[in-house]
Amino acid sequence: MIASPSQALPAPDEDARAHGERVHAHIVAQIHDNGGWLDFARYMDLALYAPGLGYYSAGSTKFGAAGDFVTAPEAGTLFAHALARQLAPLLLAQESPVILEPGAGSGALAGELLPALNELGAPPARYLILEPSAQLQARQREYLKSRLTTRLLRRVKWLNRLPAQMPAGVLLANEVLDALPVQRFRITAEGVMPLGVSVTAKDELCWAQGPHDPAFAALVRARLGTLLDGLPPGYESEFCAMLPAWLTSVLECFEAGAALLIDYGLPRREIYLPERSAGTLRCHFRHRAHDDPLILPGLQDITAWVDFTTVADTAGQCGWEVAGYATQAHFLLDGGIDIATVAAQSLSPESVTRASELKTLLMPGEMGERFRVMALTRGLNMQPPGFGLRDLRDRL
Ligand SMILES: C[S@@+](CC[C@H](N)C(=O)[O-])C[C@H]1O[C@@H](n2cnc3c(N)ncnc32)[C@H](O)[C@@H]1O
Repeated sequence: MIASPSQALPAPDEDARAHGERVHAHIVAQIHDNGGWLDFARYMDLALYAPGLGYYSAGSTKFGAAGDFVTAPEAGTLFAHALARQLAPLLLAQESPVILEPGAGSGALAGELLPALNELGAPPARYLILEPSAQLQARQREYLKSRLTTRLLRRVKWLNRLPAQMPAGVLLANEVLDALPVQRFRITAEGVMPLGVSVTAKDELCWAQGPHDPAFAALVRARLGTLLDGLPPGYESEFCAMLPAWLTSVLECFEAGAALLIDYGLPRREIYLPERSAGTLRCHFRHRAHDDPLILPGLQDITAWVDFTTVADTAGQCGWEVAGYATQAHFLLDGGIDIATVAAQSLSPESVTRASELKTLLMPGEMGERFRVMALTRGLNMQPPGFGLRDLRDRL
């Protein structure tokens, strides 16, 4: 997702402010019930997913111009059409393949991808959307009903839990891994400490170090390995403890197939650099990006960069192979984005919008470099397209 770097944040309107106050009160009550301190992952989970209150569970617009940020499928139609061209051969190589899209947001990707795959003669047998937010599910249903033909709509099914194992298909997750709650830690002279959230005497949210917890310290050590030894006291960062279990559970839905995971992130050793001493948390509110997750709980998105080394290790442990790892720009330019067609439209009224969409998707300062695409395969006798220009697997 992208939004402008920090500028003064606009004030929430009256309804939003009232909603934010309810979320704040709920979190404060949880902190008091928990002895005055919450692990950051628990805080992030409440701020984003508390039923009826969290950012993704309640009614705000979130995506697109009227929301807080723009994701690649929200930037226009080029991304979905590029993906369709790259997914078609993977789908055609399998018998009755199913697409599983966890975290489908507004439904923008599914709404463009399904007709595009259909045109390429490669519609999936079913398109499963695993969406934990009831509010987003309702929005996706409404959007896809208006966007898809009855025949294509019949292929879409919404799930509240993971499906039983399927023989073949493609897992497609755009900006989902960065939305999973993360634990925060701080390096101190006494060792690695959990960093969480507490309240001031006036019930304002504030950062607070938790007590030394050997199990937590061991978890950080297991994830960072020797990288931990190069980090100075005062260094703060985060890691996603639930990532391996979550990814394993979705990959295990397929006996064979491919997965495309698209997100902003880096290999582990490029995340835990001594100079990146405040971590990678990023918040989005009304198209402003900043790094304070304790303000505007329930009204802003909170994300953290994805550790693609953990993604690759987890995939290996459950029998999947890392078939490619590239920047979004290289991935899309390698046969996905059809620059010639876009250029041919350059005299049309659409050209300015197209140019701005290309810039969003491909430029290094926007999504082109910061976003990475990882392809995983199991039991599939072909190389996924998109990694011919530049494959960065050796950096993992
Ligand atoms: C940043 S949005 C991305 C939406 C969409 N994929 C896009 O690119 O526009 C994150 C999405 O992940 C979903 N999500 C969060 N946790 C999830 C989980 N454990 N399983 C599946 N989806 C999840 C959210 O509800 C939301 O739809």
